Amino acid sequence: MNKIKVRVNEKLYEKEISSDMRLIDFLREELKLTGTKEGCGEGECGACTVILDGVTVNSCLILAAAVDGKDITTIEGLGGKDLHPLQQAFIDAGAVQCGYCIPGMILSAKAILDKNPEASEGEIREGISGNLCRCTGYEKIITAIKLVQNRNKGNKC
Ligand code: FES
Ligand code: FES
Repeated sequence: MNKIKVRVNEKLYEKEISSDMRLIDFLREELKLTGTKEGCGEGECGACTVILDGVTVNSCLILAAAVDGKDITTIEGLGGKDLHPLQQAFIDAGAVQCGYCIPGMILSAKAILDKNPEASEGEIREGISGNLCRCTGYEKIITAIKLVQNRNKGNKC
C-alpha cells in the first residue's frame, strides 16, 4: 500500500492505495470522478487524458502512486456555474456525437490554449493528435477550439 496526497480539481485528497493502482482507476473508483474515460487502456486513444502539473497525460499509463504531491485537472474541474468556454464551444459547434472522447479531447484542447492561446490550426491538430474520435471526423472539434480563440479575441462568431 502507498499513501498519497494529491490535489485534484483544486481539492486536496489523502488516500491509501495499492501500489499497482493506475491513475485512471484512482480517479474513477477512489474519487468517483467518472468523467475520465477508459478506451484502449494502452496509451493509444487519449480517452483517459487528464492534465498533470500542466501537461496532458494518459491516466491509463500512470500509477496513482506516482502522482503523490502533484496537481491534476480532470473534466470535472472545468466550468462551474457556467460551462467552461471550451465545453460551450464544443456544444455550439456541434462537435460532440457519442461523447466518449470528449472529456479527453477538451482537456487536450485546454492544454493547447493554456500554452498558446493563439495556436495555429496545425498546432491544434497536432495537439489533439493523441485523442482519437470515432464519430466526428475532427473538423467540428477543430472548429470548436478555434471558436474559443475567436471568442477570446472578442470576435464572436
Ligand atoms: S484509455 Fe488511456 S490512452 Fe486509451
Ligand atoms: S464523439 Fe464519439 S468518439 Fe468522439
